[in-house]
Amino acid sequence: MTATSYDFDRLIDRRPTNSLKWRRYDPDVLPLWVADMDFAAPPPVLEALRQAVDHGVFGYAIPTRELAEAVAGRMQRLYGWQVGPEMIVATPGIVSAFAAAARAFCRPGQGILVQPPVYPPFLSVHATAGLVRQDAPLAQIAHSQYVQYEIDWQVFERAFHAGETSTGMFLLCNPHNPTGQIYSRAELSRMADLCLRHGALICSDEIHSELLLGESTHIPIAALDPQIAARTITLIAPSKTFNVAGLFCGFAIIPNEELRLCYRKTLETMTLHVNSLGLIAAQAAFSGACDDWLAALNRYLTANRDFLADFVARRLPGVRTTFPAATYLAWLDFSELIRAGRIQGTPYQFFLQQARLALNDGAEFGPGGEGFVRLNFGCPRATLVEALERMARALE
Ligand SMILES: Cc1ncc(COP(=O)(O)O)c(C=O)c1O
Repeated sequence: MTATSYDFDRLIDRRPTNSLKWRRYDPDVLPLWVADMDFAAPPPVLEALRQAVDHGVFGYAIPTRELAEAVAGRMQRLYGWQVGPEMIVATPGIVSAFAAAARAFCRPGQGILVQPPVYPPFLSVHATAGLVRQDAPLAQIAHSQYVQYEIDWQVFERAFHAGETSTGMFLLCNPHNPTGQIYSRAELSRMADLCLRHGALICSDEIHSELLLGESTHIPIAALDPQIAARTITLIAPSKTFNVAGLFCGFAIIPNEELRLCYRKTLETMTLHVNSLGLIAAQAAFSGACDDWLAALNRYLTANRDFLADFVARRLPGVRTTFPAATYLAWLDFSELIRAGRIQGTPYQFFLQQARLALNDGAEFGPGGEGFVRLNFGCPRATLVEALERMARALE
């Protein structure tokens, strides 16, 4: 199959399914919120799942050596990062994987450092593990046409051991949700150095690392240097990239054997076992057989991003958006319209009521998210156009 033959324009009706995205709101509401895409998974994944279903027996499964080799091989191929298959630990998704890391590696009462605005489960993981949250908010770069963020290094460094609480772990989101930014080698290096200096482990959520827009490239923080890798738990998954999030399968890459044993024990204690179909989908997704599908997907998402940015500039005056380097998430700033009294309440409520459009409420992403919504453009262009037209009409 050639790259051009994938049809991402096809509208697949998800309302008759049990889709969280399409069933949470009334039928007239168009949902561009929770982070899954409205596209079918790549053909090799569907074929592997079909074969498993045809086999007919769904007993307990183990992550096989071949699967670990597929994951390790992918890290080598994509990043030149030498990862042994023994370093790979399967997890039921990524939120449970970082929750397990927080329990495994932090002592109760220690701190966990996060960079809001950020994916909401980052903001609550401390509570489930008896830890203290230490925020190092990202700084918005002012006066640009786009909403852009950067690390405020003073704020970042001050967050370590804030309130006399020792920081056990830095939970990094790279690429970052919701800002869509990818950290550069220099930024990753500086963050890693500070973590090493302050004795904090790094847990790097890289779930969006293969959803690369335009010419973007991703660098796993652990690939920078073996000393950093020895202090890092890298989390990856096929779920966002290949649209199999509901199959709940992810991987922790833990080069440090001592940390890995401890992590495996924690997964056992928490009875975090992986769904057998998730493992099968992951093997097909990471094998390389889906790579031309992924290249076509990333081109489609890039065109959606460009369309959205252009639409916001031309048709939504007073609104600013990110121009994400990765992910299928745009982060839209309505604070100017709120100040002008053109939007009452939160933009999330406004668009739900006035446009019958379901987005994510920026306030749920923590400090700095107020006045924003997150929009998921992982959908056919026609759906995106309809959503943006609804926004424009609501603001007229
Ligand atoms: C940064 C990030 N981590 C984790 C997840 C969810 O992972 P899972 O469904 O595998 O728990 C998401 C989903 O949107 C995400 O954006």
